[in-house]
Parts: sequence; structure tokens; C-alpha cells
Amino acid sequence: MDHFNYRDGVLYAEDVPLSRIAAEHGTPCYVYSKATLARHFRAYTEALGSQSHLICYAVKANSNLAVLGLLAKLGAGFDIVSVGELERVLKAGGDPAKVVFSGVAKQANEMARALEVGIKCFNVESRPELERLNAVAGELGKTAPVSLRVNPDVDAGTHPYISTGLKDNKFGIPVDEALAVYEFAASLSHVKVVGLDCHIGSQLTETAPFLDALERLLVLMERLHERGIEIEHLDLGGGLGVTYRDEKPPQPFDYASQLLSRLSCWEGGKKLTLLFEPGRSIAANAGVMLTRVEFLKPGEGKNFAIVDAGMNDLIRPSLYQAWQAIVPVDTREARERAVYDVVGPVCETGDFLGKERELAIAENDLLAVRSAGAYGFVMASNYNSRPRPAELMVDGDACYVVRRRESVESLWAGEALLPDSTLGQA
Ligand code: LLP
Repeated sequence: MDHFNYRDGVLYAEDVPLSRIAAEHGTPCYVYSKATLARHFRAYTEALGSQSHLICYAVKANSNLAVLGLLAKLGAGFDIVSVGELERVLKAGGDPAKVVFSGVAKQANEMARALEVGIKCFNVESRPELERLNAVAGELGKTAPVSLRVNPDVDAGTHPYISTGLKDNKFGIPVDEALAVYEFAASLSHVKVVGLDCHIGSQLTETAPFLDALERLLVLMERLHERGIEIEHLDLGGGLGVTYRDEKPPQPFDYASQLLSRLSCWEGGKKLTLLFEPGRSIAANAGVMLTRVEFLKPGEGKNFAIVDAGMNDLIRPSLYQAWQAIVPVDTREARERAVYDVVGPVCETGDFLGKERELAIAENDLLAVRSAGAYGFVMASNYNSRPRPAELMVDGDACYVVRRRESVESLWAGEALLPDSTLGQA
């Protein structure tokens, strides 16, 4: 459930009409609902009840400082994949001791910074990464806490670009090799094995792949135990899907209760701390992107609704053929219904937000693209020299600018012309 609802024909974010936000802040813009973010986060903590756990929100889904700050206040930990994400977490008041560091290409400077601030765990994705981490920790006179990210080779049944737990994916250590790499880790003097990690993909709409992965991890944990390697925490990654259209993904409660009942049959299950790295299921339906119709362009084969937001602002439809609901913000005036491709201003045929949508709209109307709170702004670019949109956060009847719209000047900040002298010879 989210807090974007119609009242008397106008779409609201909590108690603020989206039409007012567009009038005050312009379009395109992203609007987040604080109550929805908090609700989605609490769904996890409540589902886990008395089981020792830590919810490490996946920063990549939406890394706005206001989002991170809110979640930090609610007690969240964070899953990061770069030093940039780490600095954001720190800036937002997050606790480094609740941070786990994922990613296949951690650089030495990133490892050093994470060790310096004292993160909870490195989710190590390969043997060479382990060697690098051991060397960096040694130089700093520290011990790095590690989990190995194991690739359990299960099919998450999701889009190939966001499936990560198959053996053909670049992520993690193949489950058959994990034992040997754990033994290697245990032999190193500057790393300490504390956990076991996996993340099999994103936008999963069934619990079966998670449970299959858990089975394989439990077998591995038994083997590790036999060799005297003890696991304090089990990190099951993120990946729980959301409803974009008519998907019926399991809710955190269903997901957690199935996992907990499996773990309760397993000796040692009680002692484990469970970690999760949800991104989408917390942020996606806590945000919309507002855009305005510039022109309606009727055609013989197709009608186009040309809007002021494009693939540079929200790339999911173009990149993954992702379907996100597109709805009019103000439905009070009667409009003619027609079927449109909703397209943006970018000079690419692949620049669309939605195809074949039946809409009752006129020029200048506002549209809301739903489920845009995750993998929305964070994937925006300046392609076609388009400043990135503003981000706003609604809290009850208040609306805060949490990132101002980029200016045109900011587009070339950091760039330089060649000196005149060089151009003389051109
Ligand atoms: N942990 C790790 C190690 C991950 O790689 C990811 C997502 C997550 C957690 C969070 O997964 P979530 O709970 O959000 O499913 N841009 C794509 C999604 C890419 C997901 C990448 N990894 C999209 O827009 O659909």
C-alpha cells in the first residue's frame, strides 16, 4: 500500500495535491512519500519480529540523502556498492557499523575508506578481491569482516538484466567453489569470516527461488561448521518484487515467515542474525515522476503523447521494456479517450515512458508515472544536455525539495575549453 491516492478526482501524495507540486516546482520532477517509505521499511522489521536481523536498504535503488536519512532514523542499515554510496550514507547520518559493502569491483581506496569508518561487513565476490582486501587491511593494521557472496545457481525467473544468481552471471562465487574460498579466507591474517551472503536477482515475484537458494546455503553452512568456520550472519540480499501492473509479489511478511519456518527446522538457525538488502520493495511505490504533456500528435497508425520527461529522466521503460503505470493527475475535466505511446523529448526512437496506453488527456495536462521511487532518479542522466529533475519529499501536508532541479550551467561544470593558443593552430 502506498500514499498516492485520488481525492475528488485529483491525485495526491499524502495530503498534497500533485498538481500543486507541479505548479510550484515545475516538471519533470520526482515526488516521494515519507509515510510510504517508512511503512515499507517497517513491513520488514515487523515481519522479522524477535528474530535477530538487520535491514540493509540497498542504496542504489534511491540514494537521495533525505531517503537515506529517514531510513537511518528508522534504524536501517545500508547495502552499498561504491565509496560514493558510503559517503552518502555517512552524510545522511547512517551508522557505518550497519553497512555492508557489495559489488564485484571494489577498489583499494574504497576498501580502505570502508575499513577506516568501520563497516559491518564486506560482501566479497571473488578470490582476488579477498586477496586485495587482506592486503589493504594489513597495510592499515585492521581486520576486515567478510561474507562471501555465493552464487547459488538458481533461476530467479526475472528479466535477464536483473537476474544475478545464475552461474553465467558475473556475480558471486560459484557455490561449488565456495568452501575452498572460505578456507582460503580463514587462512588470511587480516580478514575475519563473519557471514554468508547471496543475492539472486531483482523483482522476484515468487518465494520459491529464495527458498531454493536458502537450501543451498544451509548445506554450505553445515560444511563450513564441520570445518570449524562459523557464520554469525546470513545475508539473503534484496530482490523482493513490487506491483507495477498486476504482479502479486509476496509481501515481506510472507517471505519472512517462509524463511523463518525453514530456518527454525535447522539447527543453528536461532543463533543466526538475518540480513536483507531490499531496495525496490521499499522505494519503488513510494515515488512517482510527474511530467507534463507538451503536445498530442495523432497519427494514422499511432497517437503520440509527447511529454516533457524522457529516457534520460526515467530509463527503465527504454532499458528493460519495463511497464510503469501512467495516470492523469487531474481527472476532473472531461477529455476524449485515445490510445497513446507516451514519448519524451530525447532524440531516440527508444525514448518512451509507456506504449499503447489508453488515456483521457489534453495538451498541458499532468501525468504521473507510478512506481518511480526506485531505480528512477538514480539512473537519470544528462543525455541531450537535459538537466536532471528536482526531487521532492512529501510528509503529510508539507513538501520539501530534497534535490533541486539541475541548472543548465551545471551541465558543463567541470568541463573546460581548450586554451585559445591551441585553437589558433586548428
Ligand atoms: N543487493 C544487491 C547485491 C543487489 O545487486 C541489488 C540490486 C539489491 C541488493 C537490491 O535489490 P532490490 O531489492 O532492489 O531488487 N535497475 C534495475 C534493478 C537493478 C538491481 C541491481 N541490484 C531496475 O530498474 O529494475
